[in-house]
Amino acid sequence: MLDLVGRSCLITGGSKGIGLAIATRFARAGATCTLVARHERPLRDAISILAKHGQQDHRFLVGDVGNKELWEQAVKMNPRIDILVNSAGRSQTSLLLRTPIEEIDDVIRVNLLGAIYGTKFYLKEMTRARRGCIINVSSVLATTGGGGSSAYAASKSGLHGFVKSMAKEASRFNVRINNILPGYIETEMTAVIRSSAKAEALLKTPLGRLGTSAEIADAAYYLATNEYVTGTDLIVDGGYATR
Ligand SMILES: NC(=O)c1ccc[n+]([C@@H]2O[C@H](COP(=O)([O-])OP(=O)(O)OC[C@H]3O[C@@H](n4cnc5c(N)ncnc54)[C@H](OP(=O)(O)O)[C@@H]3O)[C@@H](O)[C@H]2O)c1
Repeated sequence: MLDLVGRSCLITGGSKGIGLAIATRFARAGATCTLVARHERPLRDAISILAKHGQQDHRFLVGDVGNKELWEQAVKMNPRIDILVNSAGRSQTSLLLRTPIEEIDDVIRVNLLGAIYGTKFYLKEMTRARRGCIINVSSVLATTGGGGSSAYAASKSGLHGFVKSMAKEASRFNVRINNILPGYIETEMTAVIRSSAKAEALLKTPLGRLGTSAEIADAAYYLATNEYVTGTDLIVDGGYATR
């Protein structure tokens, strides 16, 4: 199905993992993508992957989503986008007592402020066009919490309040905003988790396996194409949140 033909998307964290899977899914549906991340080499590799699907004119921008200057640059490069996906994120794997203040600040800055900045910078043009869709990649830990992930869980539950509020502010302009809450998904982010922590995550996942980035991309595609969904948290977690 090519139902995103003519749509322009900007996907942060699009060079790898979940962000790249979403970009690939959208490109296959005919969209043109701009990918954002901090390292150029993986971005270039990701663009070559996208070029194998549909459009050829995908682009990338190097920068940190937690910096306002990156968003000024993004809007200059690409003033009008139809779909913004905030997938860039960083994890935390230490108890609060052992987590340096700088790391706490960075988790909140990248995971929460990054998504808020992106929304703020692109909202004006979306409201003017009377069309827009914003998808944040949150986490199931926003609802369950997780030992060793306090700042991370706080950054992701911040997205819950943000999306609820923005759905109220933006719906009259036909701009929709939603969160996806993945459980444990096989990506570089989870590759570094200790095997004991991974085994524990699997025990807590009724479906008994990690999810795939493609399964999260399917959820993003649903949110991008279903015009009656806004202000929601879509959990895709193999049942993790039920435990
Ligand atoms: N994997 C999971 O199990 C899981 C579960 C729940 C939620 N999530 C969420 O899903 C999102 C994607 O995670 P993932 O597993 O796909 O991670 P990943 O494979 O590590 O990819 C992270 C992506 O974000 C980019 N990135 C990281 N920090 C950035 C920054 N400050 N500015 C711009 N780009 C940045 C990375 O590229 P650079 O390093 O080049 O910047 C990369 O493209 C994250 O928000 C994560 O919290 C993941």
